[in-house]
Amino acid sequence: MSTIILRGNIIHTPTRERFVCIPGGYLVTVDNEIRGVYEELPEAYRSLPVLDYGDQLIIPGLCDMHVHAPQFVYRGLGLDLQLMDWLDRYAFPTEARFADPAYARIYYEAFADAMAKNGTTRAVVFGTLHAEATEILMEELEKKRIAAYVGKINMDTLSPDYLCETPKQSLADTERWILKTKEAYRLVKPAITPRFIPTCSSEVLEGLGRLRETYDLPVHSHLSEDLGEMQIVRERYPEYDNDSDVYDRFGLFTDHTVMAHFIYPTEHELDLVARRGVTIAHCPQSNGNVAAGIPPIRRMLDKGIKVGLGSDVAGGYSLCMLRAMSEAVYLSKLQWLKSEKQDAALSIPEAFYLGTKGGGQFFGKVGSFEPGYELDALVIDDGSLGVAADHLTLEERIERVMHLADDRNLTARYVAGERA
Ligand code: GUN
Ligand code: FE
Repeated sequence: MSTIILRGNIIHTPTRERFVCIPGGYLVTVDNEIRGVYEELPEAYRSLPVLDYGDQLIIPGLCDMHVHAPQFVYRGLGLDLQLMDWLDRYAFPTEARFADPAYARIYYEAFADAMAKNGTTRAVVFGTLHAEATEILMEELEKKRIAAYVGKINMDTLSPDYLCETPKQSLADTERWILKTKEAYRLVKPAITPRFIPTCSSEVLEGLGRLRETYDLPVHSHLSEDLGEMQIVRERYPEYDNDSDVYDRFGLFTDHTVMAHFIYPTEHELDLVARRGVTIAHCPQSNGNVAAGIPPIRRMLDKGIKVGLGSDVAGGYSLCMLRAMSEAVYLSKLQWLKSEKQDAALSIPEAFYLGTKGGGQFFGKVGSFEPGYELDALVIDDGSLGVAADHLTLEERIERVMHLADDRNLTARYVAGERA
C-alpha cells in the first residue's frame, strides 16, 4: 500500500461557485485514491512521513483539453493571420516535417518537457497524420508523466498534397495505430482525432465512427471555430445548418468526446451537445489570436454543458494553463459586453474550476481533492510574486497566481498518485 501525505495551503474547487481552502492542511492519498483533506492529521496516519511544503500552495493538476503537439515548433508566429490562412502558411508545412521520426523525437521530447514544466498533468493532444511520429509523441508524454489522450489525426480532403491521405490509408493507418498503442502505456491512450470536418471526407468520418465504437475510444476535434470553416461544412452538408449534427450523424458525439471552441453555437447545438454529454475545450488565447471569435461560455454552463480549458498551441502561444484561466475570465468580460450584459462574466473560482475539475472529469475522478479522486496535484511557491502572504487570503493568493505565476513558480507535480 502506498500512502502519500502532503501538507501545505490546500486550495481546490469541488464546485465552480467557490474555492475551498484549508490553510496548513493535510492531503492524504492511498494507492492513488484521495482519502481526504484534513486540518489535523487523523490518528491512523500519524506514524507515516509527511511531505511538508510549508507556506506553499497545493492545488489540483492542470488539464489542457486541446493542444497541437507539432505546432509547439512554431508557437508565437503568424498570429496576425486568420485561421484558414494561418493553417496554410504555418500549421500544414510544419506538420509535414513530422514524416521524419528523428525530427519528431526532438520536438516531441521538447514539447512533453515544456508541458510538464508548466504544471500540466492531463492533456488531450493532436499529433499529425503520421502514425509513427504519433507513437513517438505518446512515448515522450509517458516519459514525462503527462496523462494524455493522443490522436493520430485524419486529413484526406481539402488538405495540401504534401499532407493528405487517401480515405483507405487514413482508416487503415488509424486502426493499426490504435491496436499498437491502446495498451502500450500506463498514462497515455489513443483518441479518435479527425482534424476537423473540412479536411475529412464523409467516408473517413463514417469509418472513424466505426473505429470509435469498435474500440470504445474517446473523440477529439474542432467544432464551430471559424465562419470560413463553417461555410465549407454548410456547402458539403446542405441538409444540416450546423457542425454538430454532422459529427453526431457519424457517431462521433458521445459523453467521451471533447470538441475545441464552439464559438458560434445554435440553440439546437447547445441542446445536442448537452444531451450527448460532449465536453467543450475553451481556448481563450487562441480564439483571440486567430480572430476566431468569442464563445458564449456562460450559456454553455447554464445549459449544463461540461467545459474545460485548452491552450490550443499554436493558436495559443502559451502552454501555461494558468494563463488560460486568466484569459478565460478576460474573454468572458468581452462576451459580457458583446451580449449587452446578458452573459455574466466568469468568476475567478469558475475559471479555476474549468482548468482543473472541468477538464479533469474527462479522465474520470480527476481535478479535485474530494475523497475517491486520483492524486493530481501541483505545489506552487508564490513567494516571487511579491505576495505579502500575511496580508492576503488564500483566495487572493491563488487569484494572483492565476494571473501572474508561470513555470518558475512550480515546485512539485504529482500525476495519478506519483511524484512526477
Ligand atoms: N482547425 C483545424 N486545424 C486547426 C488547427 O491546427 N488549429 C486550430 N486552432 N484550428 C484548427
Ligand atoms: Fe486546435
